[in-house]
Amino acid sequence: MKICVMPGDGIGPEIMKQGLKVLEVIGEKFNHSFDVTEALIGGVAIDETGVPLPDTTVAICKDSDAVLLGAVGGPKWDTIDPSIRPERGLLGIRKELALFANLRPASLFPQLKDACFLRPDIVDKGIDVMVVRELTGGIYFGEPRGTTVENGERVGFNTMIYREHEIKRIAIVAFEAARKRDKRVCSVDKANVLDVSRVWREIVIEVAADYPDVELTHMYVDNAAMQLVRDPSQFDVIVTGNLFGDILSDEAAVITGSIGMLPSASLGENNPGLFEPIHGSAPDIAGHDKANPLATILSIAMMLRYSFDLTVEAECIEAAVEKTLSQGLRTGDIMDEGGKLVGCIEMGEAVLANI
Ligand code: IPM
Ligand code: MG
Repeated sequence: MKICVMPGDGIGPEIMKQGLKVLEVIGEKFNHSFDVTEALIGGVAIDETGVPLPDTTVAICKDSDAVLLGAVGGPKWDTIDPSIRPERGLLGIRKELALFANLRPASLFPQLKDACFLRPDIVDKGIDVMVVRELTGGIYFGEPRGTTVENGERVGFNTMIYREHEIKRIAIVAFEAARKRDKRVCSVDKANVLDVSRVWREIVIEVAADYPDVELTHMYVDNAAMQLVRDPSQFDVIVTGNLFGDILSDEAAVITGSIGMLPSASLGENNPGLFEPIHGSAPDIAGHDKANPLATILSIAMMLRYSFDLTVEAECIEAAVEKTLSQGLRTGDIMDEGGKLVGCIEMGEAVLANI
């Protein structure tokens, strides 16, 4: 099993180090050999090669069975030419590998109930949401885009555009995911204002005809943002476009206790999947052994499940994470009363021991 690993920037390298230790131990325990090749992406790639996504990185990714990513970006590259920002590396690899479906499961670990920001009576109803975000279209990639000067003033513009095939295939992913869960899909759009959303809604309704066993509802994105904090238990699968999905998945993550807990899988049709924590590079704590490695470790579990069909191995990692939380170990982001504050390394080692 060939895996391309891209630690990236900020806390990326330290969380990935813990993740790779977990992968190695899983390999030993279950007798698998994982062939890991490192590649550059983001700011470190800019520093070494001048671009955020070198051709060699794309080639290594395409030659792999799965790709693991830490995080990209940081203040060091904030003033760089926007066409080579670190984020362009991440967007570029998603596009190169045609990873149109981004699965972001946000569920509440019961052990972290007290780290949750929501009222206890809301939390008690449970949180188990799967955000299915379209990842290679919408306003992130739409043309035309750019900045210009008109009548002596600066203007910036992007295009939110979705084509039928893009909506259809992401809707299918959402309905299929729902079939394996609670059989409910909520499609989030802004159809009261945006034409692109009206097409989105129309096509999602058409796809739903093939899934009579799954309940489909629709929600405007502003309402969805509110409902997620008011009563997240009402959601099972949320399917939405690139930009709305970016925003709502951060929100879904943080209501489960911390953005530091959420893994993600980005999948395409015939390419390796890409697995990454949804949090960013957290430059403010990078290098201080404070980062939470659990989202990365859980992303590795997702990789084992989705790319290699290794369900038992994935469950083993997830159980080890749960046990570590039950033992009271907490990084700063999930710290609660009675928890034992640990760093990134100690958290990683505890998970290893529990495996
Ligand atoms: C995410 C991130 C990225 C995005 C950035 C880093 C380009 O926020 O994966 O959610 O906007 O997709
Ligand atoms: Mg985001």
